[in-house]
Amino acid sequence: MAAMKPLGKDEIVKMKLSCELAAKTLQYASTFVKVGTTTNEIDQLVEDFTKSNGARSAPLNYHGFPKSICTSVNECICHGVPDNRALKEGDIINLDITCELDGFYGDTSATFFVGEVSAAAKAITEHAKRAMEKGIEVIKPFGTTGDIGFAINKYVTKQGYYAVREIGGHGIGQSFHGEPFVPSFGKKGRGDRLEPWTCITVEPMINENDLPIREMAIENSSIKYYETQDKSLTAQFEHTILITDTGYEVLTVY
Ligand code: MF3
Ligand code: CO
Ligand code: CO
Repeated sequence: MAAMKPLGKDEIVKMKLSCELAAKTLQYASTFVKVGTTTNEIDQLVEDFTKSNGARSAPLNYHGFPKSICTSVNECICHGVPDNRALKEGDIINLDITCELDGFYGDTSATFFVGEVSAAAKAITEHAKRAMEKGIEVIKPFGTTGDIGFAINKYVTKQGYYAVREIGGHGIGQSFHGEPFVPSFGKKGRGDRLEPWTCITVEPMINENDLPIREMAIENSSIKYYETQDKSLTAQFEHTILITDTGYEVLTVY
């Protein structure tokens, strides 16, 4: 994986447009999260919406991934593949959207409720969002990925959850996934340097227990999807962030 090089002015403009579209698409997709909708239907709606905005859904055919978005329901940690399963009352679902617009990638995800959900589902979802925010808040130019991981893990642990270690954030820009790896655990000052005018994602996944996660194959793809061992709940949020010379900017807001 290549490290991302600092973006110039025009490149930042393009990156912002792509991220804004990803955010807008996530908001659009979320309006279809209701009882009875299938994850395939959401996938198709996103595919059409993305095209009509002059962009491409980055997951489609990415290392053989068969769909345009990831839909991770309940015990699915990430990379859930849309299918004909209908959403049911009480489910939680992470929609992960990545678009490529004019050569730049914007990546964002959020966990949504299907109808009324349990107190446990509300809690893990709220804490996953907060965990992402905690990680984002410590970003500074020439800080490190360890600063981010430390802040996330400290919060997650305090709330009684477990941050997933195997999967995390990444460099992003003119490619979907590049260096650095952005872990959801770590030590302050360790890891890779955060270079001004590069972009990363912060995307913690949090679980209810610390059992090893289950890695599952996706047919004809080298991408894996992940589940909790005992089918307990998991939740995730993701933003794409620009590191500036004075701090950071969250790009996937709409
Ligand atoms: N959007 C995911 C991420 O946050 C990656 C999905 S790759 C796919 O990095 F192939 F599963 F789509
Ligand atoms: Co990502
Ligand atoms: Co993503």
